[in-house]
Amino acid sequence: MIWAEDGKSRPICRDEVGNHAVQTAASFRLMGPRLADRLPDMAMAEKQNEYAAPSAHPTSERVFSGVQPSGLPHLGNYLGAFRNYIALQERGDAIYCIVDYHALTSTHDPEAIRRNTHDMAIALLALGLDPGRAILFRQSDRPEHTELAYLLSTVVPIAWVERTPSFKEKKRNRPEDVNHALLTYPVLQTADIAIYHAGRVPVGRDQQAHLELAREILRAWNRTYGEYFVEPEAVFTDSPVILGTDGVRAMSKSVGNVIEILADEATIRKQVMSMVTDTQRILRTQPGRPEICNVCQLHRFFGDDYEYIWDGERTARTGCVDTKKLLADRIISHFAEARERARELESKPDDVEEVLHAGADKLAPLAAETLRVVHDRMGLARKE
Ligand code: TRP
Repeated sequence: MIWAEDGKSRPICRDEVGNHAVQTAASFRLMGPRLADRLPDMAMAEKQNEYAAPSAHPTSERVFSGVQPSGLPHLGNYLGAFRNYIALQERGDAIYCIVDYHALTSTHDPEAIRRNTHDMAIALLALGLDPGRAILFRQSDRPEHTELAYLLSTVVPIAWVERTPSFKEKKRNRPEDVNHALLTYPVLQTADIAIYHAGRVPVGRDQQAHLELAREILRAWNRTYGEYFVEPEAVFTDSPVILGTDGVRAMSKSVGNVIEILADEATIRKQVMSMVTDTQRILRTQPGRPEICNVCQLHRFFGDDYEYIWDGERTARTGCVDTKKLLADRIISHFAEARERARELESKPDDVEEVLHAGADKLAPLAAETLRVVHDRMGLARKE
């Protein structure tokens, strides 16, 4: 199911954490992300240092998520996951990771990996991730993740990873690009979460299978070596899968059907204007069907008046072009402050790197403690 037929009923938000934590579409519209109120006012790295180091005590309330460094974030990233990252940081125990090791499963261009990681950090900070409230770091700054991934992989039957939907899909579509690391991708993802004992994982709906596998893997380890890891739960936003500009497939950089929320205005406008609407509405005078028009669906997230907009389409009061122009205007203005902030951060690359390093430093004791326990339980060298 992508959109409900009547266009009204919302998909159920599974695993919702407290009432205040996950923004509903309604509160999102009303509040907007008041970025000016939330953004750190510089000295970000210092703020990261003020953030209390997370305790080693396993807690199911801790939040962790990872994001692939894919360059500019798109609307699907934001509606599906990033707005939950930002909402959940208010609870004071959230860790966010830019997963550059994972990116190596599909990119072997060192400059691209480095640049995209840096750019993703800028994007998250610009969108409101506050290093005074949450930890942001680069996965390869904490190489213990890979060691834990190896140790976990010893309890993972090959069949489990072979049947992962994302693996099967890539094997089918791009068999020449299937490497060994891709097969174990979900095991590293499990290690990312488990090394910090996080129990809540805000992700897009495409990650559901990975999260289920993570739970299975940790259950298998606990069964073998005694209870230790908590089983993490996915936290979804109330957005269904966000379709791309083609109106058919989920928005994704690899498909090339994205709306890049922090791109310049002209790019956003061009991407929105290229959107496929109701393909059966050929003439301007014909009524449209908002429940199947992706432009109309996206309007739900950018104003309280979407029902009025839908009515305009149904009655042919408005045309698709008008509705797209309005959507482009709203997306541009919604992310205007974030875009400005991103431009500012682009001029301070050292500060951004400093935030990432400080975040990784903060996590060192916790990662070491987890590996100490795991070494001990598994019969490996004792660690101090
Ligand atoms: N696989 C995730 C994605 O492609 C990224 C990821 C890596 C992740 N490690 C994670 C997400 C840990 C959540 C938790 O979006």
